[in-house]
Amino acid sequence: MAVPNSDTLVFFGATGDLAHKQIFPALQGLVRQEGFDLPIIGVSRDGSLDRRKERAGDSLEHYGPMDREGFQKLMGLLRAAQGDYNDPATFEKLRRELGKAERPLHYLAIHPTMFAKVVEGLAKSGCAANARVVLEKPFGRDLASARELSKILHQYFPEKAIYRIDHYLGKEPVQNILYARFANPLFETVWNRDKVRSIQITMAEDFGVEGRGKFYEEAGAIRDVLQNHMLQVLVSLTMDPHTGSDHELVRDEKARLFKAITPLMPGDVVRGQFEGYLSVPGVSSRSTVETFVAVKVAIDNRRWAGVPIYIRCGKKLPLTSTEVFVEFKRPPRETFGEIVPVLSSHMRMRISPDITISIGLRVKKPGERMAGQDVELTFVRQAADDMPPYQCLLSDAMRGSAELFARERGPVADCRRSSGRRDATLHLRAGAPGGLPAHRQTRPMAQSAASGKQAVMRT
Ligand code: BG6
Repeated sequence: MAVPNSDTLVFFGATGDLAHKQIFPALQGLVRQEGFDLPIIGVSRDGSLDRRKERAGDSLEHYGPMDREGFQKLMGLLRAAQGDYNDPATFEKLRRELGKAERPLHYLAIHPTMFAKVVEGLAKSGCAANARVVLEKPFGRDLASARELSKILHQYFPEKAIYRIDHYLGKEPVQNILYARFANPLFETVWNRDKVRSIQITMAEDFGVEGRGKFYEEAGAIRDVLQNHMLQVLVSLTMDPHTGSDHELVRDEKARLFKAITPLMPGDVVRGQFEGYLSVPGVSSRSTVETFVAVKVAIDNRRWAGVPIYIRCGKKLPLTSTEVFVEFKRPPRETFGEIVPVLSSHMRMRISPDITISIGLRVKKPGERMAGQDVELTFVRQAADDMPPYQCLLSDAMRGSAELFARERGPVADCRRSSGRRDATLHLRAGAPGGLPAHRQTRPMAQSAASGKQAVMRT
């Protein structure tokens, strides 16, 4: 049966950092490219409608591109509801603003500690009836709190109306990892422990936590990007192909892969903090939250057993680049008596800021000697995503397509193949000196965000 579209888009956190950087450009994209013409209600603690429009303009000037016509149309659709999320009157205002809307979509682009409060406010004011809710990460702090949050949500929303968001799933180059792998059987023949020597996934950012100290204090690099964005990249790279077209089957394959990841031990994790983090507004002067994390992951299945997988992510690093590097095995012996080459043959997939897929090979250097050189051949190159990831996700959520969202399985989930299987959990223990190169800008620190154990890191 066709699922009806939502008829109004409500987003909480309308004056926040996420709205400024990502949501307004996505909304303009929806209006300009997809003919979106439904009411959009921005909810926030402060800011009149005029102030909000001004900020939307600023957002598009900075993170656009600004498209005058699209922007004017967007401003025509934009309305505001203002108030404290702890105050029931805010939700009454929203209810009035919703007018005749029958199936609103509520997108919570807000601090995760407010999720429960806001869904409760939505329910009590009648705004949750026939509605969908979209939530940003981190979804809970650990398995127990994630379950607790699900429980709260299920008091007011059926599972099929809950959309847990990870904007990496809306990214073209992340989707292309899966697509390119499975559309080219050629890759499948080398995509395993027989041919792959190691996998590295790196998300380096040259900026800090600008204006997000309070959020970051509760997230850290692990909850901000590792447990969501990086794991989605990892699973896209390593999962087995799904059969059939039902997107639940894709989720099943992903869960199967996550279950094969062995628990991380202290020696597999390095955490660090950039110099200066402690003076960021909203950050405790004694904070031990990590702004850098590196982990060595092992997947214990027939395809990947024994292949080391390194994931690194951090703020205030020398450059901004997110990429995947799949290193292939070297020849068993050097056929031409060369000293071991610097680079092995490899596949490099750049996710941002530009989008590329390249293959690196060793070929003969022209000349008399049988000497080699490394070449990299790029066969996909895009300056940037044509469609911002949030546009893709919001458009899907408005249409009720659950393809790109995390869904809970089990008795509450509306899915035909649910079973009593264990949840896939990534066990993360105390951070400690590990096998990865330490981050130069880090300083010694202690305390694992995940377990609370003390473990001093060398850098
Ligand atoms: C967000 C994190 O989810 O992803 C940010 O909260 C991070 O800390 C951002 O900078 C990176 O996303 P992108 O799309 O710029 O790679």
